[in-house]
Amino acid sequence: MMRLAHPGHLEDWRARLREEASSPARTIVVTAGTCGRASGAMELAEAVRAAIESRGLSGRIGLLITGCHGYCEWEPSLVVQPEGYFYGRLGPADAAEIVEKTGLQGRIVERLVYKEGPRSKAVTHLADLPFYRKQLRRLTEANLRLDPERIEDYVQQGGYGALAKAFFEMSAAGVIDEIKASGLRGRGGAGFPTGIKWQLGRDAAGRPKYVVCNADEGDPGAYMDRGLLEGNPHSVLEGMIIGAYAVGASEGYVYVRAEYPLAVANIRRAIERARELGLLGENILGSEVHFDVQVVQGAGAFVSGEETALIASIEGRRPHPRQRPPYPAESGLWGRPTTINNVETWASVVPIIDRGAGWFASVGTEKSKGTKIFSLVGRVRRTGLVEVPMGVSLRDIIDDIGGGALPGRTLKAVQTGGPSGGCLPAAGLGVAVDFEALARAGSIMGSGGLIAMDDRSCMVDVARFFLGFAAEESCGKCAPCRIGTRLMRGILDRIVAGLAVNSDLDRLEALAVTVQAASLCGLGRTSANPVLSTLRYFRDEYRAHVEDRVCPAGVCRALISLTIDPALCTGCGLCRKICPVDAIAGRPKTVHAIDPALCIKCGACVEACPPGIRAVRSGPVQAERKAPGRGRRRS
Ligand SMILES: Cc1cc2nc3c(=O)[nH]c(=O)nc-3n(C[C@H](O)[C@H](O)[C@H](O)COP(=O)(O)O)c2cc1C
Repeated sequence: MMRLAHPGHLEDWRARLREEASSPARTIVVTAGTCGRASGAMELAEAVRAAIESRGLSGRIGLLITGCHGYCEWEPSLVVQPEGYFYGRLGPADAAEIVEKTGLQGRIVERLVYKEGPRSKAVTHLADLPFYRKQLRRLTEANLRLDPERIEDYVQQGGYGALAKAFFEMSAAGVIDEIKASGLRGRGGAGFPTGIKWQLGRDAAGRPKYVVCNADEGDPGAYMDRGLLEGNPHSVLEGMIIGAYAVGASEGYVYVRAEYPLAVANIRRAIERARELGLLGENILGSEVHFDVQVVQGAGAFVSGEETALIASIEGRRPHPRQRPPYPAESGLWGRPTTINNVETWASVVPIIDRGAGWFASVGTEKSKGTKIFSLVGRVRRTGLVEVPMGVSLRDIIDDIGGGALPGRTLKAVQTGGPSGGCLPAAGLGVAVDFEALARAGSIMGSGGLIAMDDRSCMVDVARFFLGFAAEESCGKCAPCRIGTRLMRGILDRIVAGLAVNSDLDRLEALAVTVQAASLCGLGRTSANPVLSTLRYFRDEYRAHVEDRVCPAGVCRALISLTIDPALCTGCGLCRKICPVDAIAGRPKTVHAIDPALCIKCGACVEACPPGIRAVRSGPVQAERKAPGRGRRRS
C-alpha cells in the first residue's frame, strides 16, 4: 500500500495521476447524489455505460458518476464535457442517443435540450441555465468534476495541497490568523467567527483535544451539508485535518444523521482511503501531526445538532443540551477542549488556505464574507441547492435563480433558517443575505434553508407547523421550551380551529417572548421565531382567523368550505377523480358539485382544478357554521 510520507510524495503522486489520466474526447458526467438516485440516476448511468461499451467507445467517451450538481428538480441529469452540454429529466432510454450524437459527434440532441416551458427558448449549456447563471459555485462546483468515491480524482485536482501547505509552510497560529482574516463565520446557524473559535480551542488547556464535524442537518427542507458530504467528502475531511493541526487536536468525529446513508458511506470511504495513504493517522505526510477521525451516526433528533447535545450523543448519552459556558472549546467531549464546526464551514477552510483569506473575502458584505449555500425549496419554479455570494438579496435568489412564483400564483413569504427562522413577506425580500441584516428583518440565516410560500399558504398554519415541529423535537429538559412550545401550539390550534379570542394573540406573543428569553438552548430560544415573525408581518391574517373566523388563504379546514363555481366549471372531472372520499358528483362535460356533508376539505380538488379554470374555490364557512360571538373575550 502506497503511503505518502512526505509532501513531495503527494506532489509526485498528483503529477503521476495527471499523466496517467485517460483523456477521452468527451466525458459524460451523471449527477448521482441522493436526489439524482431517487429519480433514476444510477439506471441512467448504467445505460450510458452500456451504450459506450456496446459501441466500443470506452477510450473515446468517459463516464463520470458524481454527487449532486444542485439542480435537483431537473434530475436525473447529465453534462457532456468539455462543452458543458446539459440534459435533464432523462430516462435510460435516452442514453444511447446522447452517447452517439453528443458524446461521439459533439451534436445536440434537440428533443432533450433544456426548456422551461413549451414556448421558452432552448438552453444547451449548463452555465447558461437560468438556475446557474447568477450563482457563484465556489464550494459546490467541484461536485461536477469528481467521483466522490475516488480520492485520486480529488488529489489530481489539487486535493490535500492545502493540508500540505498548512503543515509545512504555515504555523498553527498562522493558519488561525488566515481563517480569522478571511472573516469566515460558522455556517451551522449562529454565524460565530471560525477563527476566534479555533483560537479558543488552541488556547484551551487539557489533552487530548478534539475536532467535530456537525453533519446532523436536522432542519426540515435543508440538505446543503448532505450535498457536500456526498459529493466532495475529502474537502470536508481535509478542512478538519487542517483545523486539527491549528487547534492541536488528535482525534476527530463526523456526526452525521443515519438518514443520510450515501453521505455516511462516502465520508467513511474518504476516511479509509486517507488513512491508507497516510493523510490520517500517525505522522501525517511525514509531519509531527497525529490525527484520526471516526464517524458517528445520529438517530435523527433535531436537538442532536445543538453542539452540547451532539457531544452528549457522541459520548453515548441522551442528546440533551447543557448550559453554556463552559463552551465546548474549553470543555467538550469527555470534558476536553472540542472544536465543533458545521460541514460547510469545514469545507470552506481548504480554499481559504489554498487561495488566501483575501480571495475568500473578495465577495460578501462587511461582516458576512464568502459564499453561502442555500437549499431553495417550496413554491418557486426552480428548486435545488444554490450557492451565492453573501450580500445578494433574497429576491435575487427567489426571482433570478428560483424563477419566482409558480405560474398563476403570487409569492407570499419566504421562510429562512428552517424551523428556527422567520417568515419574511414577499415585499421584504430586498433584504440582503447577511447574518445581521436577516436578524434585523426578524429572521435568521440559519444553516441555509429557504422555503418559498405563495398565496395558497396560510401564515398562521405555517407558524403552527413549525411550532409543532419544535414542540415535538423539544428534548423536554427545560420547562420554558417543554411547556412553552406546547402552550403556543395550543393557542395556534385554537386560532386555526376558529376558537380563539383576541386576548389569545397577546398571550401568544407574550409566551413567544418568554420562551425566547428563558429556554436553555437554541431550540427553545429560536422556536418562537416563526410565531413572532408572522405576527409582525401577517397580523391581519391572525386577526381574520380570530375576529372574522376566516382563513384568507383558504387553508384552515375549520374555517373554509369548498365549492365549485358553476359558471366556470367545464366538467373536466379532474377534481372528481382526485377526491379521496367521493364527495364530488358530476357527469363528464357537465357542471360538478361538492357534497359538503362528505367533504373532508383536504384541498386536493382545488389543486387539481386547472389554473386556467379555477372553478373550485375555498371560501369562508357558511354563516350558520361560524362560532358564535365573534371576537368575544373569554370570561
Ligand atoms: C436545535 C439546534 C439544532 C442545530 N442543528 C445543527 C445542525 O444540524 N448542523 C449544524 O452544523 N449546526 C447545528 N446547530 C448549531 C450548532 O449548535 C453549532 O452552532 C454549530 O455546529 C457550530 O458550527 P459552526 O460554527 O461551523 O456553525 C444547531 C443548533 C441548535 C440550537
